[in-house]
Amino acid sequence: MKPIVAVTRKIPEAGLSLLRAKFDLRLNKKDGVLAAPELKKIVKGASGVVALLTDKIDDSVLSAAGRELKVIANFAVGYDNVDLVAAKKRKIIVTNTPGVLTEAVAEHAIALLMAVARRIVESDKFTRAGRYEGWEPELLLGPELSGKTLGIIGLGRIGSRVAELAALGLRMKIIYYDNGNRNRELEGKFGAEAVSMRKVITASDAISIHVPLLPTTRHLFGKAELASMKPSAILINTSRGPVVDEKALAAALKNKVIWGAGLDVFEFEPKISPELLKLDNVVMTPHTASATIEARNAMATLAAKNIIAVLEGRAALTPVRP
Ligand code: GLV
Repeated sequence: MKPIVAVTRKIPEAGLSLLRAKFDLRLNKKDGVLAAPELKKIVKGASGVVALLTDKIDDSVLSAAGRELKVIANFAVGYDNVDLVAAKKRKIIVTNTPGVLTEAVAEHAIALLMAVARRIVESDKFTRAGRYEGWEPELLLGPELSGKTLGIIGLGRIGSRVAELAALGLRMKIIYYDNGNRNRELEGKFGAEAVSMRKVITASDAISIHVPLLPTTRHLFGKAELASMKPSAILINTSRGPVVDEKALAAALKNKVIWGAGLDVFEFEPKISPELLKLDNVVMTPHTASATIEARNAMATLAAKNIIAVLEGRAALTPVRP
């Protein structure tokens, strides 16, 4: 009998075919997130599980899986949905998909930044509504990004690539805060400057957040931080929703405490604050920053290869090291 691998929601065929060739594949047939009881059912008796960031993999789910379970391959770079302590206790390897989605997410962060600055969505709505009656000198003005300062919070793989795209592509000046760490390579390459968190908040014309969700990063941006940003500043979040206090952000956008925001993630997603939905100075996407065809295929392949490696007795390619 082949080992069972459960996949909690359909992922690209590139990964499924690798798994199908070696294992007895148990795939969530419904096109939707599994509720806890369904999740427990699908993982029962599985040796490997491909999980999504929308699956809460806690001790009760691991316990429902049973003793066969050796590996959870999270189909995401973030893994705040997995209880790592519980997994470790049960000697279950947890893997994620770093690297393969760096370009996709970095491009998306820049896309959001440009969309907010140049009011692309608002302009599109305006045009479709038949409101364009002729060229106007002051129609839909926004800030130019070239020469402005981009503050990066978290200079890991994605943050570094965003910094590079902004510095080399948009000629922005880069300042960053990465938990006190320095990245001398990027400093040398385009003069990125390590500064305090406070300086990133107060001196940036735009801020892009690239930190994992941890107890220490929850509500990293709240009312006080937003109030300390320049009134002309733009906040971009492609990391995790709870890193920003969404209620405080909606109020700050409404009251023009900051110029605008670009959000791919939400504090209580898939729910979004109704206040945000009413505002023109926020551009929102439904957690699709990694949604390039290339990245999603590569994520599926990497998740599958992690499962295969562990179940064949080899080391995981990209284990999570808390
Ligand atoms: C997406 O949010 C991811 O963590 O991959």
